[in-house]
Amino acid sequence: MGILMDGLHGYMLDLVEERDPVLLEMESYAKEQEFPIIGALVGRLLSHYTQLIDAKRILELGSGYGYSAIYFSKAASDDAEIICTDTSEENKSMAISYFQRLAITNVKFIVGDGLEVINQLKGDFDIIYNDVDKEQYPQAFKVAVPRLRKGGLLITDNTLWYGRVLEATPKRESTKGVLEYNRLAFSDERVYSIINPIRDGVCVSIKL
Ligand SMILES: C[S@@+](CC[C@H](N)C(=O)[O-])C[C@H]1O[C@@H](n2cnc3c(N)ncnc32)[C@H](O)[C@@H]1O
Repeated sequence: MGILMDGLHGYMLDLVEERDPVLLEMESYAKEQEFPIIGALVGRLLSHYTQLIDAKRILELGSGYGYSAIYFSKAASDDAEIICTDTSEENKSMAISYFQRLAITNVKFIVGDGLEVINQLKGDFDIIYNDVDKEQYPQAFKVAVPRLRKGGLLITDNTLWYGRVLEATPKRESTKGVLEYNRLAFSDERVYSIINPIRDGVCVSIKL
């Protein structure tokens, strides 16, 4: 559950169509393990943006076990390229097995620090999706923005950080990271940003 008034999140979730049983299984696993995934509403938002800008090349920074990537994959064409990154080999193995069960062929998964992997990849991206550890958010912004094509999108999850962005004297490094990220997203003239308050706040920046 996120920052929206109790009930509204559930109401919107009820409006979303039935998910594939594999996605439901991934959601159950997240709940059991308390693994933070974006959930179906933010997933739908990712699919929306993919379709809106006809994204063909997408990079994820912090893919977990592949849940968010499935929303990009399903909304993009078969010839699109979705590149997942995560520091965990185990997350990769789980993701690959879910992708196989869903017959997904347009996703590849690189194990490593996404903020370094991005420098090893050539070319620009239509969408960069950022969901790494929150203290790394300012650095993610710095490496991602130059790698977006004009009109491309930087999409970052948890930018309201369960309301902690309102703390008068934030102590957690994660909260400081999110606050600095938002400051950059709203002051850097290379992008035009908005935070969608769905779930935990999704910041979407258009590269100008
Ligand atoms: C919130 S989870 C990702 C959830 C996923 N985006 C989803 O919704 O399905 C964050 C993930 O980022 C990974 N991570 C953290 N820092 C990272 C980094 N610098 N590079 C790549 N992955 C990172 C963690 O291992 C973790 O699996």
